[in-house]
Amino acid sequence: MTRTLFRNASVVLPKSVVAASVLVQDGKILDVDASDTAAADRVVDCSGLHLMPGVVDDQVHFRDPGLTHKEDLSTASHACAVGGVTSFLEMPNTKPPAVTIEGVRDKERIAAGKSLVNYGFYIGATPDNVADLADATDVPGIKIFIGSSTGNLLVDQQEALERIFAETRLPICAHCEDEQTVRANAERLAGTTDLADHSRIRDVQAAVIATRRATELARRHQHRFHVLHVSTAAELPLLVDAAPYITAEVCLHHLFFNVDDYPRLGSRIQMNPSIKTAEDNRRLFDALLDNTIQVIATDHAPHTLEEKAQPYPKSPSGLPAVENSLALMLDQVVQGRCSINQVAGWMCDAPARVWGMVGKGRIENGYDADLVLVDLSKRKTIHDADQQTKSKWSPWDSVTLTGWPVATYVGGHKVFDESAGFDESFRGQKLRFDHSRGGYWATPDGIGVE
Ligand code: DOR
Repeated sequence: MTRTLFRNASVVLPKSVVAASVLVQDGKILDVDASDTAAADRVVDCSGLHLMPGVVDDQVHFRDPGLTHKEDLSTASHACAVGGVTSFLEMPNTKPPAVTIEGVRDKERIAAGKSLVNYGFYIGATPDNVADLADATDVPGIKIFIGSSTGNLLVDQQEALERIFAETRLPICAHCEDEQTVRANAERLAGTTDLADHSRIRDVQAAVIATRRATELARRHQHRFHVLHVSTAAELPLLVDAAPYITAEVCLHHLFFNVDDYPRLGSRIQMNPSIKTAEDNRRLFDALLDNTIQVIATDHAPHTLEEKAQPYPKSPSGLPAVENSLALMLDQVVQGRCSINQVAGWMCDAPARVWGMVGKGRIENGYDADLVLVDLSKRKTIHDADQQTKSKWSPWDSVTLTGWPVATYVGGHKVFDESAGFDESFRGQKLRFDHSRGGYWATPDGIGVE
């Protein structure tokens, strides 16, 4: 039996922040309101710091296996540990793509050997693997690329989509950009080398058509569905009053970058779905505040700077973000745009609930002790050279933020802090999912309740 006492923290509970000491025993939270003199093997002095749940990032592309010159599960999980991300759900567009349960198990084996934080892997849909999808258990859910992106996964035939929604039981999530619209726009703009055309090719209509199509399928089949990376205000009416069947996610780049940033940042912000306008940035943030969107994720999708330097449209879409995502939102807390409870709701609790994760996302008795200590007064500038991601760059290079994670604990075990660095010997665990609830429960403050 090992006990750790997090003494005198500002503890971020689901609905409040309280001055308290938290006692952790054998990897689980034993008492969220322990005595500050409780007996413990280790005491962590948290004076001046907030203790919050570890971030659960439900959309990352960690490139292992097959594309490990961009990233692998070791470098990616180091980036997670620095950023306060204690659990991740990884997308199937690796090489080979994870479209069978054996493919998912291969990735779990790689993660068991390399990952400092907890892991889960989606199974990817193809036009003809519905039997694999229907048989899969023990995974967070099914990923459909309704529009193609990096890699060759694509399911856009209506018949195949109907079968997937009708014949499978796991929650489904999708990349929603309409393939026909994107192809027609690309044809119209054929020959362009202007990066700004990326947002004209992958335009608002492409996002709206695909999100409408997918949410319509989910409603008709009453199938749990999560809209990945909503990028436009125009998609929001499709999401209103849609819970518990339909939940949605926004990514940091769609909150903080827009087309006016292309001249300054170039292909660093080339993403699918494309970034849109400053008005979309504002409306997407508002959609978090009013709980139309429940989850913030990164879509961490590294490519090397050499790959990114190719002229458009050869430059690939994707950017790395896991090590800065929490700090980007803590900075918003410091600026007064939202509360730290809301950030914990969007980045920890809601994703854990959307995917039925067992024991994750909250500081509550009995939950896993996946915890982050954050210093809301710490000011730091992001630099490419400091990044843990193998790609060694960030679209937020040279940006100074206030509010940073300073230590990260997985199952009560410190995997990173600023002075000691990483515990290289530690390995995270495979995440467990309980899909029996079949829905996400939401409240106007953005935090799900039973
Ligand atoms: O821009 C993107 N890049 N969007 C995605 O959905 C996939 C990702 C990648 O894997 O590179």
